[in-house]
Amino acid sequence: MEVVIKRDYGQMSKAAAQLVVDVLNTKPNAVLGMATGSTPLGLYQELVRLHQAGQVDFSRVTTFNLDEYVGLPANHPQSYHYFMHEHFFQHVNIPRHNINIPSGTTSNYPAFCQWYERRIEECGGIDLQILGIGSDGHIAFNEPGSSLSSRTRLKTLSKQTIDDNARFFDAREDVPVYAITMGVGTILDARKLVLVASGKTKAKAIAQAVEGPVTSMVTASALQLHRDASVLVDEEAAAGLTMRDYYEFIYAAKPAAPRA
Ligand code: PGA
Repeated sequence: MEVVIKRDYGQMSKAAAQLVVDVLNTKPNAVLGMATGSTPLGLYQELVRLHQAGQVDFSRVTTFNLDEYVGLPANHPQSYHYFMHEHFFQHVNIPRHNINIPSGTTSNYPAFCQWYERRIEECGGIDLQILGIGSDGHIAFNEPGSSLSSRTRLKTLSKQTIDDNARFFDAREDVPVYAITMGVGTILDARKLVLVASGKTKAKAIAQAVEGPVTSMVTASALQLHRDASVLVDEEAAAGLTMRDYYEFIYAAKPAAPRA
């Protein structure tokens, strides 16, 4: 696993955006896995800026989002459909029919989950998956206890996640209890993983994910099983890492990515 420590949120977001651009430079029709939450916002802003400056083209890109709240229609302001449209899709040129987000309102969840997995496969698999991390160590909505080989399915949100996400809703009771989410196994099938984390509330989860044992109690620790995973953190999120000097030594010696 590559660990990249940046001075602040802005630098971290720029470095993450550059990893996406590097993939698009070598594969303009790449399949991107998208994440929601506050943390990837800076990364999306940077990609939008680069797109508007003519430096990155999304016209051949396909996307798959990690998850969606069960029960929220696409036009609900807290749905992940709405989030992605607001913060990213309306600002770039991804063809509408290439955008895939799990449905929060399907009448048949098992069938939808199977279809979503099949659709990822039919599109050739995910080239780069963007990830955030929950303060309980989750990736997507794979809460503690999720099987490390799980596939897209319904999950019950943990109390911690409901508390964390209550800030976006009028009341804690309004936070949906269920979500449809890619599984840890689905995520591990992506060719490259890029996890972003910022702020001191993430320091413990990052230390556990990067330096703790691989365990379903911290599903982000499954990144240790992946051959090409980058964890990008700011100073505050890096605070619990014990091998920091080593990560910085490796990163400083890394050659720049080849340009197409
Ligand atoms: P956040 O969410 O970026 O809003 O902190 C991260 C997550 O739960 O994956």
